[in-house]
Order: sequence, then C-alpha cells, then structure tokens
Amino acid sequence: MSDLELGYVVVEVDDPGSLGPFFTDIIGLVPGEPTADGAPTWSDDDAAQRLVVEKGSRNDVVALGFEAGDAAAFEATRARLAGAGFAPASGDQARCDSRRVAQLATVAAPWGSSVEVVLGLERRPVLSTNPLMPDPLMPGGFLTGDQGFGHAVIATTAFDESVRLATEGLGMVRSDWLEMELAPGIDLEVHFFHCNARHHTLALARAPFEMPQALHHIMFETNERDDVGRAFDRAFAAGLPLPNGLGLHDNDRMFSFYVASPAGFQVEVGNGARQISEPWSDDRRYDRISAWGHQPVTPPS
Ligand SMILES: [Fe+2]
Repeated sequence: MSDLELGYVVVEVDDPGSLGPFFTDIIGLVPGEPTADGAPTWSDDDAAQRLVVEKGSRNDVVALGFEAGDAAAFEATRARLAGAGFAPASGDQARCDSRRVAQLATVAAPWGSSVEVVLGLERRPVLSTNPLMPDPLMPGGFLTGDQGFGHAVIATTAFDESVRLATEGLGMVRSDWLEMELAPGIDLEVHFFHCNARHHTLALARAPFEMPQALHHIMFETNERDDVGRAFDRAFAAGLPLPNGLGLHDNDRMFSFYVASPAGFQVEVGNGARQISEPWSDDRRYDRISAWGHQPVTPPS
C-alpha cells in the first residue's frame, strides 16, 4: 500500500464566492487564506487548505492532490507513475505556492483533470492557538490525521485507464467494489481504493456516457455522529437539494448524507466508516449501495 492521503481538492466554478456560505455555514468547514491568485480556500483541520475554489468555466474538479507521507514516498510515487506510463511533470514554484506545498508532481488523469502528488502541505498553528478553532458548527472536528481530509468519487467513461492510474500509478489497493442494476438495463459499477487506513480515498465509477461533471462528490468524515445530524439539519433548513438523506453504506459502513453544492457536485458528510486493516482480505463485490436509508429527501414546500 502506498503512503498517500487525500491532501486537497481543487474545483473550478464561475463564481467561487457563491460556494462560501455552503462550505462555511452548512458543511462547517473553516475558511482559510485565499491563494495568491485570489481563490478562496477551506479546511477541515490544521492543513492550510483542503478545498480550493478557482474561478473558471469548467464547473468541475481540476485537481486532486495526494500528499505523500515523506520524501521517500513522494519519490517512490513519482517513479511508480512514470513506470506505469503516467510521466509526472514537476510543478513550478508558482504552482507549489498556490497549493501551499513544498514539492509537487502532476499527471493528466484519464477522467479529464489533474492528479497532483505533493510533499509538505502547509499546516496552520495548532488548534488551541487558532481563534477559528474549534469550529462551532463542527464541535467534534473532522477525522483527518494520516488519513487525509476525506475521499473523492469520480465518474468517468475512461474507467479502465483511470483504475490503472489509481493502482499501477498511485499504488492504491482496491478495498471492494459495487456492481448493481440501478434500473433495467442500467448498471452501476464503482470501485473503491485505499492508500491508508481510510476505507477509500478515491472511488471510480464507470460512466455510461460523458457526465456533465467528473466529480460526483467529496466526503468529509466527522469524529462525532451527532455532528452529521446537525449538518443534515442545516442543509435541510437551507432548503438545499438532498439527493441522499441519512443512511448507512453497506461496504464502508459509513453513516452519512449527501447534499448538492451550488456548483452541482455533491458533498457527503459522514461518520463511523470502518477502517482498513492489513493485510486487507475483504475485497469483494457488493450489490447494494446502502444497508438502509440514503433515499432522496424532499423538503416540505
Ligand atoms: Fe462517499
């Protein structure tokens, strides 16, 4: 298993400011300093930034940043990517500055945006000296540490090559996979990959046709179950679309809900997922997304 964790996600939308109330007041993330280019940022822990929202017309993810645990892991990942045919390019100083990292290598991902492998993502002062922390909307804090900030789920027609980038390129290991018939003739296939104790850091869905957005959702995991419920209440009270209400995933046993962001991609807030133990021997097929719940929620009119 590689020594990587999900360091940050960069998305590009027409109006970055429109996402501010959503991430701050609904999800409970803490705003960080804007990048040198003026892109607003948010974090769910002491990392300087976990989410960067750049201005542009893509309305989708532009980069997933995977942080290496140390210099040896960074170099090993660069070499593994090159060996798998995904030759990484070194990020220049301006790119490193905007990502707030010491080193960066980037490859074009088959799903149409970038994967960045980075070393030395900047950390902010410890929580007790930071007036922004603890976060009043998320009093229990988020589960991060050496598991990165959460997970990202990508839908792509270039599924097989994307799986190859995750496994042969990044050295991730499949945790399990989901294969089910959503409706007659419409199949869903999602593969879940880990690179640390988090059940999945990246999941890839086989898209039957080009999707308007490759990024299906990003997930933030809370330390306290009640914080999921309170985030659900905030999303519900705001009248935001809730494609999946509270429920429990069958494979990672995550208790969670999904809310659509103003940019379209979804955010999952969850708690209590099971962890990867080594050696991992539970790579098996699941045929249902959820053990219970996760139905769409219609707010009262
Ligand atoms: Fe998820």
